[in-house]
Amino acid sequence: MTAVDLDVKFRLMVETDVPLLHEWIQRPHVAEWWDGRGASAHLEDTKRKYLPRLRDSSSVKCHFAILHGEPIGFIQSYVALGCGDGWWQDETDPGVRGIDQFLGDDSKLGQGLGTRMVTAFVRKLFEDPSVTKVQTDPNPVNGRAIRCYEKAGFRIVGKIVTPDGAALLMVIEKGCARAA
Ligand SMILES: CC(C)(COP(=O)(O)OP(=O)(O)OC[C@H]1O[C@@H](n2cnc3c(N)ncnc32)[C@H](O)[C@@H]1OP(=O)(O)O)[C@@H](O)C(=O)NCCC(=O)NCCS
Repeated sequence: MTAVDLDVKFRLMVETDVPLLHEWIQRPHVAEWWDGRGASAHLEDTKRKYLPRLRDSSSVKCHFAILHGEPIGFIQSYVALGCGDGWWQDETDPGVRGIDQFLGDDSKLGQGLGTRMVTAFVRKLFEDPSVTKVQTDPNPVNGRAIRCYEKAGFRIVGKIVTPDGAALLMVIEKGCARAA
């Protein structure tokens, strides 16, 4: 196996990926922390929510994380400025990206894979010269996610209230990203 085989890679989701995404967000280890625990059991609802995000014009970009050619997780990035619906209303910097993510297989949790995925994705985001900062906002009681993001180089800014409820804002500035 070469070093390249060990890298987590990313590809933009396409419409035919939505059923797998839907299956993942039903799994208890994801549902516990995703969509304010409100993920719908109906595929049509998941399509309604995620298909618009697959358009070129969307400021949210949905990816599958790929390892050894197989999808292992979901990760989306968004432009924080102008999110709407009460999100990130104080943001003035167009270079800030936010990320949300999970691993699809609960047997893979807690083994460093999430840290590799997030580290590689942040590095990819920072390849865009216009990106200044990456943020993520785990539930303040999601200790595993918080520890993972710290290992990936994020620092805790503090507790905030988002339209989805209480969250812990964590950021990583350009120049502080770790090598994957
Ligand atoms: C969040 C997620 C992507 C992290 O990936 P992961 O592969 O499980 O994380 P890692 O193994 O890289 O790191 C987890 C760290 O948290 C630690 N940890 C595990 N449970 C913990 C807990 N309850 N409290 C504090 N730390 C915990 C682990 O020991 C590990 O730290 P260490 O390497 O210093 O020992 C993954 O767990 C996941 O998909 N979870 C379900 C969905 C979710 O929570 N998504 C995030 C929404 S913000």
